[in-house]
Amino acid sequence: MTDHHHEHDHEHQHGSAGADDSSWGELLDLDAEVLHGYLSEVTSQLAQLTRNDPPRRILDLGSGTGTGTLALLQRFEGAESIAVDRSPDLLEHLRNKARTRGAEDRVRTVQADLDDAWPDFGPVDLVWASASVHHLTDPDRGLREIFERLRPGGLLALIEMAGFPRFLPDDVGRGRPGLEARCHAVQAQEHAERMPELGSDWGPRLSRAGFAIAAERPFAIDLRPPLPEPTGRYAQAFLRRMRSHVADRLSPDDLATLDHLIDSDGPDGVLRRGDLTVRAERTLWAARRP
Ligand SMILES: C[S@@+](CC[C@H](N)C(=O)[O-])C[C@H]1O[C@@H](n2cnc3c(N)ncnc32)[C@H](O)[C@@H]1O
Repeated sequence: MTDHHHEHDHEHQHGSAGADDSSWGELLDLDAEVLHGYLSEVTSQLAQLTRNDPPRRILDLGSGTGTGTLALLQRFEGAESIAVDRSPDLLEHLRNKARTRGAEDRVRTVQADLDDAWPDFGPVDLVWASASVHHLTDPDRGLREIFERLRPGGLLALIEMAGFPRFLPDDVGRGRPGLEARCHAVQAQEHAERMPELGSDWGPRLSRAGFAIAAERPFAIDLRPPLPEPTGRYAQAFLRRMRSHVADRLSPDDLATLDHLIDSDGPDGVLRRGDLTVRAERTLWAARRP
């Protein structure tokens, strides 16, 4: 689950770069691959919380390429998942992945814009919403809709992020260390304007929607070298997308350094560096419909 670039109407209104779904899909898949350890901890906690009554019907909202759906189908062998997204390309990508993993009979995809009227999915046991609720124009309405769709006793797994992944050592920057921190600062400014719901405290909002919080768990992801091969591609895909959002607010030197870093052939590019880390923060709120 890596966020921050989507085709939300807000983006178009504010004139930021549109996201093409195939490169976004690649980034979401790399996120799942590189952060598989964290993902497994989350699904393990959900298995604990549902151990007396494992979920059979799962609803994955803003499913993207199916990171949540596929991890949950692996964790809960008797379950089926309805994956909902407004992007037909990402849903097609998800179906292809499900087929590759032999899970196609357990997944139904539904294309829907959750800012509009929600389809009737029938009652579900578990809702998974990872890095998706903050995209909604009215997230509190989204939480109430989720509440309505859960059966009594059903669980919502809401995952949101406090910040975006960081990959680079602090000394990177032409003549001026701290390039990545500067990029994140610019991006935070941009997000405050474009995605004000990002980084919200979801606990009180869940309570207001009627949920009982079963767990709130922050995950501090901190992967250190040597890291496996997809890490460089993940960093490259992430920094490329970040560039499209911060370029016009960076100094020419910083922009030039960033371009070297994301250049596939560049000797200093992230694909070749042995000193990358992955540091990210995500929080799981597990909340029950009483
Ligand atoms: C950051 S991605 C997260 C994808 C996936 N949940 C994950 O963790 O990898 C957010 C997803 O929400 C979807 N999305 C955003 N706004 C939406 C809306 N209004 N209706 C349906 N899907 C939406 C996007 O298309 C995207 O796939």
